[in-house]
Amino acid sequence: LTKKEKDSAFVWHPFDVMNLEENLFIKKGTGVFLHTQDGRKIIDAISSWWVNIHGHRNSHISKAVSKQLRYLEHVIFAGFTHEPAIRLAENLIRILPGKMDKVFFSDNGSTATEIALKLAIQYWANNKVPKTKIIALKGAYHGDTFGAMSVGERGGFNIPFEPYLFDVEFLDFPENNTEKCILQLDEYCKNGDVAAFIYEPLIQGSAGMRFYSPLLLDKLLKIAQQHQVICIADEVMTGFGRTGKNFASEYCTQKPDIICLSKALTGGYLPLGATVVNNKIFSAFEGKDIHKTFLHGHTYTANPLACAAANESIRILLSKECLNNRERISTKFEELKSALEKLPNLENTRTMGCILAFEVKNSNDTSYFNPLRERLYKSFLEKNILLRPLGNTVYLMPPYVIDNKTIDYIYKAIKEVV
Ligand SMILES: Cc1ncc(COP(=O)(O)O)c(C=O)c1O
Repeated sequence: LTKKEKDSAFVWHPFDVMNLEENLFIKKGTGVFLHTQDGRKIIDAISSWWVNIHGHRNSHISKAVSKQLRYLEHVIFAGFTHEPAIRLAENLIRILPGKMDKVFFSDNGSTATEIALKLAIQYWANNKVPKTKIIALKGAYHGDTFGAMSVGERGGFNIPFEPYLFDVEFLDFPENNTEKCILQLDEYCKNGDVAAFIYEPLIQGSAGMRFYSPLLLDKLLKIAQQHQVICIADEVMTGFGRTGKNFASEYCTQKPDIICLSKALTGGYLPLGATVVNNKIFSAFEGKDIHKTFLHGHTYTANPLACAAANESIRILLSKECLNNRERISTKFEELKSALEKLPNLENTRTMGCILAFEVKNSNDTSYFNPLRERLYKSFLEKNILLRPLGNTVYLMPPYVIDNKTIDYIYKAIKEVV
């Protein structure tokens, strides 16, 4: 097949720089592997953009989705409800850190964060308190819609849209800038007009898997909460076991008021987002006043098939087998870290739970736009490994069913490629 035949001329792919990327035609997925049309077996070492935690075509999730198909594929979620959504809300409230009380469903990570921001802003409007300022961290990524872009790192992805983004105060990234970051937050909070603080807990994903400590985050949350600032944890990437615990916020003593979820929520089966809030937030929306209502909703909100997949994915996540796998990967990644640290061309090798990352040294700055990205991506693909480096940052975020032999194979490939 020619490239054109493989890749319909009518399809526009995301992040496809100048239409130069050759899109691999995937026919089938099995566990950690993607099978191409032309017979290659590729290791999905990034869980297809961080979603597929239990491997492709997990038999339990497939069964749960087909069972749900026998009853209801979709129904409007305004004025109607259904069992998979009710059960999923219960499941999430049960496993999320802190005391959360209400789940607002949507359909992806950007909508989950967009909704969190709107809820925080309307919370203060409903309470008639003039707090409007939003605080975020430098390097943040919360999605590609306008609100999400506004609280994300400026420049880079968002240059054409900057005139349209609302003002946000950005704190220096906490690790290595601890004192400055704390002082900055303290100063902003003292003005009394800060509505919300949004952050990716412990790891900034798209910024290049940048780690910062729970201790630092706890300090920031404490300051924010002392000033009644609404804390929004964007766990779209870190949720569902990635950092070792079920949610990164579990490492902290201070808990957020709002948690954003998506990505691994359905085990990579169907699009679903959730913005989960505590009663403090919800109480500002109660009552019969239409102007206090949260007038927001997406057509596929709480799609029953997606909810059924999510319920089964959570059941698997909490199973002994999955917990063992996560622990095994975590131990293996610690070993891998020590081995990688001995390689001359790598730096800043780090691991947390089921995530491992490092930078490949070169003369350019570490950034998403580092030109090594393309070479690394192609070299790993030639070895049948899907790793999608963020610039010169290479990271592993595999499905929890990956075995140690496959991790060893990836290690060997890294050694050869770098
Ligand atoms: C922390 C975080 N928030 C939000 C998003 C946006 O999610 P989506 O791509 O589903 O819109 C992402 C995506 O990478 C993310 O990493």
